[in-house]
Amino acid sequence: MVVIVRSAGEYLYLPGVIREVGFYSLHRKVFLGWVGCLRVERLGFSFWRWDVAKGAEKEITDLREINRMLKMFIACNQALLEIKSEEELKGNISKVVVEKGNYAMCWVGVLEEGDFVPVAYVRGRGYVEGRKTNWQVIASSGGPTAEALRGNASLEKNMLDVPFGEPWREEVLAGSFRFFVSLPLVYQGERLGVFNVYARKAGCLTGERYRLLGDLASDIALALSLLRVRLLQEELREALEVSEERYRLIFEHAPMGLLEFGLAAKETCQESANEEEIGWMGKFPFRLTLLRANRQALSTMGAENLQVVRETFLSLFPEDSLVSLETFLVSVFGGSRESQKELAICTPDRKSGYWQFDGICIPAEKESEKRAVIAFADIIERRMAQEEEKRWYADLEKLFGQVVRMASALIEVRCPYTAGHQRRVARLAYAIGKELGMDEEALQVLSIAGMLHDIGKMGIPAEILNKPAQLTGAEWELVKTHVQLGYEVVKDVDFPPRVKQAILEHHERLDGSGYPRGLKNGQITLEGKILAVADVVEAMSSHRPYRPSLGIARALEEIQRQRDCLYDARLVDLCVRLFQERGFSFEDEPISFRNSANFL
Ligand SMILES: [Fe+2]
Ligand SMILES: [Fe+2]
Repeated sequence: MVVIVRSAGEYLYLPGVIREVGFYSLHRKVFLGWVGCLRVERLGFSFWRWDVAKGAEKEITDLREINRMLKMFIACNQALLEIKSEEELKGNISKVVVEKGNYAMCWVGVLEEGDFVPVAYVRGRGYVEGRKTNWQVIASSGGPTAEALRGNASLEKNMLDVPFGEPWREEVLAGSFRFFVSLPLVYQGERLGVFNVYARKAGCLTGERYRLLGDLASDIALALSLLRVRLLQEELREALEVSEERYRLIFEHAPMGLLEFGLAAKETCQESANEEEIGWMGKFPFRLTLLRANRQALSTMGAENLQVVRETFLSLFPEDSLVSLETFLVSVFGGSRESQKELAICTPDRKSGYWQFDGICIPAEKESEKRAVIAFADIIERRMAQEEEKRWYADLEKLFGQVVRMASALIEVRCPYTAGHQRRVARLAYAIGKELGMDEEALQVLSIAGMLHDIGKMGIPAEILNKPAQLTGAEWELVKTHVQLGYEVVKDVDFPPRVKQAILEHHERLDGSGYPRGLKNGQITLEGKILAVADVVEAMSSHRPYRPSLGIARALEEIQRQRDCLYDARLVDLCVRLFQERGFSFEDEPISFRNSANFL
């Protein structure tokens, strides 16, 4: 039997004191009665008297109410355990509170990214539509609901006494259930929403009932918060599963070989063998594990399954490649974005080849949880094509040099005295250009222009070219046309324009006294000026049919004398330095036409 004591216990058995107590039987029948103790002479006895008095009706009603509230509280908590969505939470709680708690109406509203989304349930009508509103409207009203949204619970209020703001105000007033409480749904300081309960009569939302509704609001807030966490976790898990599946499909069906590596902790692997590991990589403080290989990887490696790849992977690399592979993997696991490597490999059937590796690191908080996805492709065919292309270019370059030399030699057939003149001019022009710091392409221009600069002499009669005496004025004028003739010969050839221009300008002089166009300093290209210096130095230092060699010293003297007048001063200085300080000589090896195929 459960005893509900209305009087303080310490007085209960004092002799002569009679107290009112209530009993609550197992059959849920409530008795009220009197208990007391009398002492007569030396004897003492106590008595119990049961009396279901008229004044006890209120207490019975109260107890029934509390009983109902407890049932409602338990039913709500059971409902909270089973909810799967916020909508379900709002609907179920509203309904249970109304039906089990015998209230007129209840609604639960939740704040969702600034919106206020409530669901209401009315006794005898079920779920009801309310006036459309949002939480800013409610919050600005200043009523109990607005206060609850701010986290402050209200005591029982009459709807007629509070400011407008309630979303179901008309509904409530029409139903004449005007008494209500607004309770905040707050969990760990976070305001989640509001829980409103309505009654027809005043006093139904006070005392013990109010306390229980407050506890229920706390439970709703806790459940709502846990639900959100659970939904978020489920969302993340689903997203992760989708992402994993996508990754798996892409990985598996990628057209290139893909391997996924991981790092196993050193100490773990020393104690027990890890079947995923493929071996020790010296530069890692970890052992390397191979977690996955796609179909293309198995096919490229000729392996039946992942385990075969694990067992054979490192043995595919010759010693040098293995070191490079280590460096590559360290760089990938280190998060380098420029992780690409071509490595020589030796397949199990002893065929040499090249694989290109490309890698990306999948970061993780712990070093040992990092992953690296390595893509690789057999590039032996590409390498062979590259080798072939290189050989082809080398052959072409050689052929080009031979053609230029052949064209250059043609003039020597007609004029043996100038044998080697163009080659030597080309060498000196190249050396001056190099001293100037010109790039390889510009040096090639000088070389080719030097080799062909006098090709126009093919159009000059041999007897004039080889005349062992001073030329007459007319003969000299004829010789001078070799410049324009040479230009005409090369102008339709796909030489760089600067080659053709240098040939056309190799007899121009800074003061405008040159030919064929009498250009002045600013009008002559650098290549033309270099060719002019090289040409005159070589010509003066060589034998001619009409005079013996004047020697290098005389030639250098001449260009120095005409420094800044006929010839560019800086080029003159460089030329003199080449001979006097750099040990340049016309007797050195002929120049090469390395890379000249670029001009084709
Ligand atoms: Fe010339
Ligand atoms: Fe010349």
